[in-house]
Amino acid sequence: MKTSTRQPVIKWSGSKRAVAHILCRLWPQAGAGARYFEPFVGGGAMLPVRPVADGVAGDTIKELVGLWIEIRNRADKVLNHYSRLWHQRESEGHQVFYRVRERFNREKNPLDLFFLSRTCVNGLIRFNARGEFNNSLHHTRPGIHPDRLSEIVYCWSRMLSGIEFLAVDYRATLDSVGAGDLVFLDPPYAGTRGRYHPESFDFEAFYRELERLNSVGARWMLTLDGRAGARIYEKEVPPSLYQTSVSISTGNSPFTRLMNVSLDGVVETVYFNFKPPAEALRAAYSKKQASRRQTSRRRR
Ligand SMILES: C[S@@+](CC[C@H](N)C(=O)[O-])C[C@H]1O[C@@H](n2cnc3c(N)ncnc32)[C@H](O)[C@@H]1O
Repeated sequence: MKTSTRQPVIKWSGSKRAVAHILCRLWPQAGAGARYFEPFVGGGAMLPVRPVADGVAGDTIKELVGLWIEIRNRADKVLNHYSRLWHQRESEGHQVFYRVRERFNREKNPLDLFFLSRTCVNGLIRFNARGEFNNSLHHTRPGIHPDRLSEIVYCWSRMLSGIEFLAVDYRATLDSVGAGDLVFLDPPYAGTRGRYHPESFDFEAFYRELERLNSVGARWMLTLDGRAGARIYEKEVPPSLYQTSVSISTGNSPFTRLMNVSLDGVVETVYFNFKPPAEALRAAYSKKQASRRQTSRRRR
């Protein structure tokens, strides 16, 4: 099977992987010298389909950003570390996972985080309120074989050249955004934010930042989760801040899967401070309709 960056290198809850191919068509034509900014990078699903090569990506989780930098700069080292632990876990059993988890929570080595993320339940990176990784070993699955993983890591490593990574608050990542730059915004989910980061997210401050981006002439696309099953997480983005919006289905929430509750799809609203190409917008809209039809068929 041909491997590519379509397979995630870092699995992330709330990843835009399922809709990245739809969203990437919604950008306007980038002007010469335009840069790409992604200040809530998480699992970086939009990076392989970014509209321009050069840019800046950030996140407040230091070890996650550290891992991105290692994947970009030292793919060999990432893979050797994973392979050594993976084989150790094969021969010595599940205690290896828990020893690495303890060590990661003490020393915060991003390479340990990578091993944990690839061998834990559903591959979900999850921290408790003290910032400790707390997901368990996936007992029935050994985690991806190092040989298969190597293709994925090398592919991503090449693709990431041109991206600078910062372990900072989103406003610091956006500090140097200028006219014509393209910004993809995927802030923490209202329904899940506490699980990744103990701090809650200040949407009022976020809207002020959108206003600033408008004033410097940047073009941004913002995704906000709307509904997952019966729960409604929608945020009201002040209409004066954006020009267009569309709702699309992003599939099942990994958190609801993990918790074994409702498997209803998550619907997101995507906001733009520009007019996306009409055809791409129509296609995004019809995808939503198709996926709604599928959901209602499953319910019957
Ligand atoms: C919904 S996830 C992004 C998912 C990503 N688009 C993907 O496809 O994998 C939101 C991310 O924002 C990060 N985050 C939360 N608060 C932040 C802040 N104040 N500044 C920067 N990043 C933040 C979280 O750590 C999380 O990785």
